[in-house]
Amino acid sequence: MNQQSQPDRIIVFDTTLRDGEQSPGATLNAEEKLAIAHQLALLGVDVIEAGFAASSSGEFEAVRSIAQSVGRQSNGAKAPIICSLARAVRQDIQIAATALQPAAHPRIHVFISASDIHLQHQLRKSRAEVLAIVAEMVAYAKSFVEDVEFSPMDATRTEPAYLYQVIEQAIQAGATTINIPDTVGYRTPKEMEQIIQDIRANISSIDQVILSVHAQNDLGLATANALAAIEHGVRQIECTINGIGERAGNTALEEIVMALEVRKSYFNPFLGCSVDSDAPLTGIKTQEIYKTSRLVSQFTGMLVQPNKAIVGANAFAHESGIHQDGVLKHRETYEIMDASTIGLSENQIVLGKHSGRNAFRTRLQELGFDLNETDLNNAFHRFKEIADKKKEITDWDLEAIVRDELQVSVESGFQLEHVQVTCGDCTCPTATVTILKPDGKILTHAAVGVGPVDAVYRAVNQLVNIPNQLVEFSVQSVTEGIDALGTVTVRLRQNDRLFSGNASDTDIVVAAAHAYMSALNRLYRHQQQQPVYDTAGLLF
Ligand code: KIV
Repeated sequence: MNQQSQPDRIIVFDTTLRDGEQSPGATLNAEEKLAIAHQLALLGVDVIEAGFAASSSGEFEAVRSIAQSVGRQSNGAKAPIICSLARAVRQDIQIAATALQPAAHPRIHVFISASDIHLQHQLRKSRAEVLAIVAEMVAYAKSFVEDVEFSPMDATRTEPAYLYQVIEQAIQAGATTINIPDTVGYRTPKEMEQIIQDIRANISSIDQVILSVHAQNDLGLATANALAAIEHGVRQIECTINGIGERAGNTALEEIVMALEVRKSYFNPFLGCSVDSDAPLTGIKTQEIYKTSRLVSQFTGMLVQPNKAIVGANAFAHESGIHQDGVLKHRETYEIMDASTIGLSENQIVLGKHSGRNAFRTRLQELGFDLNETDLNNAFHRFKEIADKKKEITDWDLEAIVRDELQVSVESGFQLEHVQVTCGDCTCPTATVTILKPDGKILTHAAVGVGPVDAVYRAVNQLVNIPNQLVEFSVQSVTEGIDALGTVTVRLRQNDRLFSGNASDTDIVVAAAHAYMSALNRLYRHQQQQPVYDTAGLLF
């Protein structure tokens, strides 16, 4: 594939499951990653960066299972490319290749730092050494797969003449995509334009490959930088759902896609299309955007800020009287896109307590959830419990139920059996908690606290005995109405790592207890995870 054969469309490379998962506290388990990967395929992304296979055994399994089930979809649609990140070291590349083997279209993404600041202070290698590694490791990746992406990390702070040498070396060794990472989110759109123009002007072989950009959002410029790069010949954008990622995050997929959709006539000429062409500029099914955003937010515990472009709760809300008046008279007075284009419609009431298993299963399938029999039975059981308390079960309630079930079904570790609290304005909040421990023992403990949640967490802490610090606690209602499910999200810190958990229930103290157990279980599993191979002292 080269730029001539794909000139009029942007390749959407989604790295939610790799860079996105590097968001502090956003660790995902293999089942959650798989569910997101299925949704990304429905969304129509071209490339799914499923993870960094060599980083842990869990990550290897996640990449492999995504390669196996999402990378080989046979519903008539083309399976997406499944990609694994790999440092420019043999073992990483070998492990990535093994994990990707089941995919119909595998890609290995090899990276190594290129800037002097990284070479001197992190890699402790000379420029010549890095050049040699690039040639050897890209060729090595190429011996496993045809499709090799290469990223010179910190490219936008690398001395240009050296950057061109590194890129030329990678192309000569067989790279098919060259990705330019703005690793620390330092550049402005004008500078990004110049960097891309200079790369294209100075590297004669650049037209043999797809040119890509990976923009971090440290200055809030990621989307602007990516769009500026598109104007100068970049044809692949690396991005994540909701813009999650390392530090301040990454380019948001929904922003890039909707900018290209809403401002098609502006971007058309940059992609070689006539101004009035109506052909889509990406392969994304925009109606799947909102659902994907919610799914990622629920599984990662990364809440979407209300004023987030495209997918925030306020993105289509009009508060001022003048705006409301205008929209009622003519929508386009204050709206540049219709909420339905991202799949945001008035949530319909679909199920209630008389709905049967078949209706439940069918609706879940329509929502993109394909549960195995055990998960389906458990989710149905929970649906019935909730339907007894809450008359109307919406799609959003269903999503919350499924998320909880998927989470519970894979949560080896501690299990919450019962929680009971007494509280009020003239009593001391007291909680009694019973848990099942990983060794099969059932234990109960009672504790008092400053409030019911504090009492529950104190009781749990006594039972599990895993030191941690609660750094975030939030409650959001899943739908409107006094009987709504409440979703509790918690984030714990142990040493320098964050672990999040969330759970929903009509009783927010119960949701809080489950969310806490979920975060504790992530922490517990992290403590038990082994690296795939011993990486001690082996940065590159
Ligand atoms: O930010 C970065 O430089 C990266 C590369 C590995 C693409 O994530």
